[in-house]
Amino acid sequence: MAYTAKDYSNLIGMEGFSETLLRNHFTLYQGYVTNTNKLNELLSSKAKDATNPEYTELKRRFGFEFNGMRLHEYYFENLGGKASLDKSGALAKKLANAYGSYDAWEQDFRATGAMRGIGWAILYQDNVTGQLFNQWINEHEVGHLAGCRPILVLDVFEHAFMTDYGLRRADYIESFFKNINWGVVEGRLK
Ligand SMILES: [Fe+2]
Repeated sequence: MAYTAKDYSNLIGMEGFSETLLRNHFTLYQGYVTNTNKLNELLSSKAKDATNPEYTELKRRFGFEFNGMRLHEYYFENLGGKASLDKSGALAKKLANAYGSYDAWEQDFRATGAMRGIGWAILYQDNVTGQLFNQWINEHEVGHLAGCRPILVLDVFEHAFMTDYGLRRADYIESFFKNINWGVVEGRLK
């Protein structure tokens, strides 16, 4: 079954994100959906031969394309919010438990997103213990925590901010925080 790109044009008009930046980002996302489908098709048609580099390199590539698709969906879906986080809600309490206070969590998440390199900052919840972690993901496929669910996803590839912010990544992260859809984020929590 092929994946279909979702429509996030409802995000156009968000404060701090130009239409050009968002439309380019949607196009990049659609490329990941296309390539995930293409790889799936190619892999199913290739001989299952571990000595054939065409087969093995396609196999290696799948995590990059699939995660590139799925992480963008998490990212766009946790944007477009207007309300701030309910500080007496379940998520705020869990964040405070994990990091000492909500503010300490936010500081850690922002610092994770501001790290050198391209990738993602992800707040994860461990499905086994319920514990929360801010994690750095290199590119799309390196660093994921096994058995953890993404709760809040921040894209820090340069294409996510350079059009509007140049090298000012912290200013982009500031705008990201202004537009988080906390209702969606809370809904991902178990
Ligand atoms: Fe992106």
